[in-house]
Amino acid sequence: MTGAPHNRLVLAIESSCDETAAAVLRGREVLGDVIASQAELHERFGGVVPEIASRRHLELLDVVVREALDQAGITDLTELDAIAVTRGPGLVGALLVGVAGAKARSWASGVPLIAVDHLMGHVASALLDPEAALEPPFLCLLASGGHTLVLDVDAGLRVTLLGSTRDDAAGEAFDKGARLLGLQMPGGPNLAALAATGDPGVVRFTPAMVHHEGFDTSFSGLKTALSVAVRERAVRGEGFSDADLAAGYEVAIVATLTGAVRKLLKARGAGSGHPDARTTLAVVGGVAANTRLRAEMTQISEQFGMRTVATPLRWCGDNAAMIAAAAQFYPEQAPDIARSLDAYATSPLFSHRELVPN
Ligand code: KG4
Ligand code: ZN
Repeated sequence: MTGAPHNRLVLAIESSCDETAAAVLRGREVLGDVIASQAELHERFGGVVPEIASRRHLELLDVVVREALDQAGITDLTELDAIAVTRGPGLVGALLVGVAGAKARSWASGVPLIAVDHLMGHVASALLDPEAALEPPFLCLLASGGHTLVLDVDAGLRVTLLGSTRDDAAGEAFDKGARLLGLQMPGGPNLAALAATGDPGVVRFTPAMVHHEGFDTSFSGLKTALSVAVRERAVRGEGFSDADLAAGYEVAIVATLTGAVRKLLKARGAGSGHPDARTTLAVVGGVAANTRLRAEMTQISEQFGMRTVATPLRWCGDNAAMIAAAAQFYPEQAPDIARSLDAYATSPLFSHRELVPN
């Protein structure tokens, strides 16, 4: 196990869902960074189609890797210290394209492989802001399309799960809400844009789990409430707009997250007296791009005398720079283990409640 992060020159590959991404970092310095989104390809299906995603990763991977290496001025793979790849969680078929690509490059060049958990990547994305200059330990809210996690992150990037969603993820709530309002993909940003033009006071949705003891969240009730509101409006012809619905809905999603985080900072924040009290809250994952969430997290942290570091917007969604940043904490994979490396759909974080860079 590693302690302090390394300062390696790393090529990272990420293909867990519908972004084919490659990046080259020296330590935290981003030298090359390419993200090819497949969003348009999946749009007419209303969601990511796994088989189509895998095939597109196959078409794009070589081009994306070559572009990232070009940006970094690397002409030969042997110049690298390591090749990092996301091994899960995600769509297994999609992940395997990246894993196979990384294994082949590692085997052909003799450069060691590092297998990284995608969730660890999101956690490490908060380290990519040179101005924030964040170092672990910190507390972390990870809100993405597949996960809503409340985490403690120690100095070696070892992650402990403190809370999770009991049903839908926050990003999923945004996406499902967007579909109910007839918005195109990507649902989250489109719903947020519509919400910015509405009045959040017109239709109020009740955030779930706020009075619950732990740090878990729940979003499926909100989605049902939105669908009922949309249906009732159609029946009764009530006079609130889609923008008002979107605004009320966004406020409730954010309030659910702030509810959990407020409890977290009370229990584990700077002034909590907890033996592992932390001074920083990192906000990461696709939903961390949400303007309302970023503002409210900053406000709450201030109330608890803490600092908020939200991932820079470019690296909130899936990308390879965050995988390279996480890889700096990981040991290199032994060659025989690297050769038999497999992908996984569900992170070991959920069975062990802990994730260590190994
Ligand atoms: O981290 P990410 O790119 O993929 C996963 O690992 O899941 O997160 C994608 C999620 C989607 O649900 C998307 O709608 C949401 O992040 N998202 C947003 C915003 N930008 C992306 N949700 C709310 N507001 C945004 N501005
Ligand atoms: Zn992700």
